[in-house]
Parts: sequence; structure tokens; C-alpha cells
Amino acid sequence: MADRVYVFDTTLRDGEQSPGATMNLDEKIRMARQLETLGVDIIEAGFPIASQGDFEAVQAIARAVSNVQVAGLCRAVTGDIDRCWEAIKEAENPRIHTFLATSDIHMKYKLGKTADEVLVMAEKAVRHAASYTDNVEFSAEDASRSDWDFLVKVTETVIDAGARVVNIPDTVGYTQPFEYFELIKYLMDNVRNVDKAIISVHCHNDLGSAVANSLAAIRAGARQVECTVLGIGERAGNAALEDLVMALNTRKELYDVETGIVTEQIFPSCRRLSQIIGMPIPPNKAIVGANAFAHESGVHQDGVFKNRLTYEIMTPASIGRTSNDIVIGKHSGSHAVRRKAEELGYVLDNEQVQVLFKAVKELADKKEQVFDEDVEALILEKVYRRRDRFRLVDMSVFSGTGIVPPHSAMVMEFGREGDEVAIRRTSEFGEGSVDAVFKSIYSLVGMSPKLEFYSVNAVTEGSDALAGVAVRIEHDGVKSVGRANDGDVIRASALAMINALNRLEKAKEEK
Ligand code: KIV
Ligand code: ZN
Repeated sequence: MADRVYVFDTTLRDGEQSPGATMNLDEKIRMARQLETLGVDIIEAGFPIASQGDFEAVQAIARAVSNVQVAGLCRAVTGDIDRCWEAIKEAENPRIHTFLATSDIHMKYKLGKTADEVLVMAEKAVRHAASYTDNVEFSAEDASRSDWDFLVKVTETVIDAGARVVNIPDTVGYTQPFEYFELIKYLMDNVRNVDKAIISVHCHNDLGSAVANSLAAIRAGARQVECTVLGIGERAGNAALEDLVMALNTRKELYDVETGIVTEQIFPSCRRLSQIIGMPIPPNKAIVGANAFAHESGVHQDGVFKNRLTYEIMTPASIGRTSNDIVIGKHSGSHAVRRKAEELGYVLDNEQVQVLFKAVKELADKKEQVFDEDVEALILEKVYRRRDRFRLVDMSVFSGTGIVPPHSAMVMEFGREGDEVAIRRTSEFGEGSVDAVFKSIYSLVGMSPKLEFYSVNAVTEGSDALAGVAVRIEHDGVKSVGRANDGDVIRASALAMINALNRLEKAKEEK
């Protein structure tokens, strides 16, 4: 029987460290549920000591999922480990993931500790973690730049102390496949008690080698792989889950391992993440990009027409990229809308279905075809954001290029739906329409944040496609990201800014 490789997903921890990929509590829970459906073995839910918000998110995820292990990250110090345990202890199968740097450069400059001191710290931390649970993982941070014999020593020590998984990260994305293969093999051959633990790998993509390095490590005997959906993560990101799993499946004869991933959930998971963080999937992204299965050249098209295997090494259906049978349009009933939401992975209550149904009807009146991406965008926009404190009621924009400068008139509602609400109006001039709209919003909410980032993308196809806007703002030292989709670019911009301000308020409260 093929060996099992455990998939440890860190989208909600390392992935969330990706610039612009911050998620709020509800979004993290929605993503965690999707990861559970996808069949990952472990969800790394966050870094509980980092902030109260992180702690609460990890705790909420631990309570929300059941068929998957939930890990919390902590430094190798008692206070961190205690806080981590507090956050994850209600999970069905909680894991403490503690880490400590082992490379000379990190030990000397970052920790100011000798190798012997690091060894003692690692042992003490793992023993302490193991007093809570036998599901303990230790990561030797910057392992790929560490002395190999020291790594052997650290690995033996933490296994003796109770670690069941030892992770050998390529923290700075520096290693190369053949070198990493040799390192993992060296550990498999030289660590005295290696049979008592699983060797794990965690690769960053600074040199574009994260997936190749992880695959090489699996060939050398690693049996846990740490990765993120769409490869999001610190700096250039982590190994992409979808690339890894499909390489293992498509080249099974090479690797002879299996994972618990339901590959048909790969595309829905990538789409879900992309919608939540407002980052479009690049068209040329392996496995899930829009062009991944598109054959442009005549020769290729002809070959595929005669036999798909000529140019296709896997099918779109195998990653859940199907043309689905439920088509939503203006004649669809609320039952079809509910089923479509379920097909996309959202279980809505009756009230939410009615909100979505109304929004879908409105969109179908304006737009020729309503795609799954449209429905998903409406779910996020209309269903999940209703309880926001600031809401747009109406706006109009004049985009002049002559004597009358661009200006906008805006009406907003303040106070959560169901509570007492106040209506405020204003009108402002701007350098352009978006600027005028943002100035109106700032004047209504009484804040002038710094706009650090603004981007627009088409969510679907055609000139009537939904526009997806993402903004990042900073105010009083607190940063926030906002996203929105709408048929109108300017309205999407306004909604994204309002979303960012709502999230800013929450972030300030949490702080
Ligand atoms: O990249 C890294 O080394 C990490 C560890 C905390 C596992 O993210
Ligand atoms: Zn990392």
C-alpha cells in the first residue's frame, strides 16, 4: 500500500502573513470549513500569542471544525505554549506547533543564543507542550541553512522529549531540490529515533522552488507537507497545495504516496480563498488558472480534439472545474439559488437565501449571464456584510474632465442593521471619480485614512463583468484591507473602502 503523506495547511497562518491577505474571523471560519471539506489533515489556524484577534480566531476555528486536526503556532517559550493550548484545546484533535531557529545566523543574531542553549530550550519547550497533548510538532526554523549534524541532534532531542512531527523548514526559500533531498535523506538515515516521528517539510517560494523542493523531500522520506491554497504566504509565499497534490496524483508512479485530499474540492477551495482575500487567481497559475486547461494553438486543439491525452495530463473535472448543471438566471427560484449556494459550499439559512435570491434577481436583470463567481461574490457582499456598522445607501458620481471637476454625492447608513440607524449625506469634489467617492466616505465617517493600495480586476468575463476592487488603508497605526465586487467599478470602489473602514473599526476594537 502506498504511504500516506499528511497535508498540513497553513493558509490561515503563514498564508495570512501574505501582504493584503488578512481575513476577519468569519472569513477564517468559512475558509477553515472549506479546508475541512477539501480533506486536509491539519489546519494551522493561527498564532494565538500574536494578538487577542488571533487567539479568538484560533479558538473559533478549533470549535468550528471536527474532521481535521487544528494546530496553533507558538514560539518555544512557556507563555506562548500555554496560550496556544488555551486556544486549541477544544478542538477534536489539537496540535501544538512550537518553533525555534537552529541556523547559526538566526541563533547568533536573532536569538543571541548558543547551539547548546537552543538545544535545551527546544527540549524544554517540547516537554512542556507534551504535558498538554501527545500531538506536538517542533519546527527547526531556518533548518535548510542549519548545520546538518546539529539538526540531527535537535531532531533526536525533540523526538525524545515527545515531538511526533519534526518540521525542517526552508524558511527563506533558499534551498534547491537536490540539496533538500539530500538533507531530508541525511536526517532519515542519521536520526537515531526517526521511526518515532514524522519528518515534515515547509518550503517558501523566494526562488520559485517551493513545490519542487517539497516534492524532492517527499521522495527522500518526508511524510508531512506544509502548504497553502494558491501558495499565499510570507514574502513570495509557500508551496501551493494544489500544485503539490496534483503532482503527487498525476505522477503517482514516481512518488507512490497518497493524500487525503478530495481533488474535486481543489478549484472550489482556490476560488473561495481568492474571493475572500480579493486576490484574483493569475490566469497562468498552474492547476487552477483560467488558462490552465485552455488550448490556444491550432495544433494543440486538433490533438486534444482527437484524443485529450495528447496535450492534457489531468482533467478539469479532477480538480472540480466542471461546467455545472445549475444555471442561475432571472427565472430561477429561491430553491435553485439555495442549491447553487450549496454547490459553491455555502449553507445559508432561510433569511440569507432570501437576501441572496433578491440580489441574484437584481443582477440577472442587468447582466446577460450570471456565473458562479457572481453568485459567490453576492454571497460575500450581500449576505455576510449585512451586519457591518457603515453601509452605503446610495451614491451618484459625476466624472467631468472640463470646468466642473469630478464629484460625488453619497448617502450612508450608520449603525448595524436591526439597531438604531442614522442616515448621513454629503457631496465632495475629487481629482477623479474614485477620489471624489473616497473623500465623500471619509467625510461621512469622520476619518481620513492613508490609502496604501488600490486595485481593480474583472471577476468574470465580458464588459458587464463584476469588478473586484481591493484597497488597503492605514489609520492611527492600524492597517485594514477592504474588498468588494460590483457591476460598476466606482460603486465597487466605494464598497471596498467602506468594507476596509468597517474592518478597521473591528481591528481597532480588537487592539
Ligand atoms: O517558514 C517558517 O520557518 C515557518 C515556521 C514557523 C514553521 O513558518
Ligand atoms: Zn513559513
